[in-house]
Amino acid sequence: MSEAPPTTSEAPTSEAPGPLVLLLSGPNLNLLGERQPAVYGTATLADHVATARAAAHAHGLSLEHFQTNHEGELVDAIHRARDRAAAIVVNPGAFTHYAWSIHDALAAFDGPVVELHLSNPNGREAWRHTSVVSPVAEGTIAGFGGHGYRLAIDAVAELLAAPDALDS
Ligand code: DQA
Repeated sequence: MSEAPPTTSEAPTSEAPGPLVLLLSGPNLNLLGERQPAVYGTATLADHVATARAAAHAHGLSLEHFQTNHEGELVDAIHRARDRAAAIVVNPGAFTHYAWSIHDALAAFDGPVVELHLSNPNGREAWRHTSVVSPVAEGTIAGFGGHGYRLAIDAVAELLAAPDALDS
C-alpha cells in the first residue's frame, strides 16, 4: 500500500485538551526550507508547525495543522473547523491574493481568524498587495519570518481569552 503524500496533511496528534487552533498552510508551503530561502528562510514547514504548537501549548491550546496545494481542500478544511476549532491561523500562500472561495469559507467560520505570512507581501510585487483573506481576518501577521507563527498564536490566545482585548 502506498503511503499518503507527506505534504497534504498532518494527522491530528493526541495532546493536552484545550481549545483547538487550526493552523492551515496553503500551496507551496510544503517546500519551505528549499523554496526561495532568501525570501522564506531555511526553516521547514515542520519547524514552523513545531513553533506554533509549542506556543499553543504554552497558552493551554491544542493545535492541529493541515497543508494542501489545492484550493477546494482548504475550503473543506475550513468547513470542518466549524463547531470544532476555536480559532484559525491561516497562511494561504498565493491563494491569499485571489481565492474568494477561501474568503467565503472563512466568513462562515465563527471564531477568530489570523492571517499569517512569512514575508511581507505589501513590500513585494504589486499583485501580492491585495489580500482577499484580510477582510475576514481579525488581523494579519506578516514579515516576521518564522517568528510569525508564535506571534499569530499569541494573537489568537489574546482573542480567545478576551475577544475585545485587541480593540483598544
Ligand atoms: C506567503 C506570501 C504569498 O504572497 C506567497 O504566494 C506565498 C507565501 C508568505 O508566507 O510570505 O506562497 O504567504
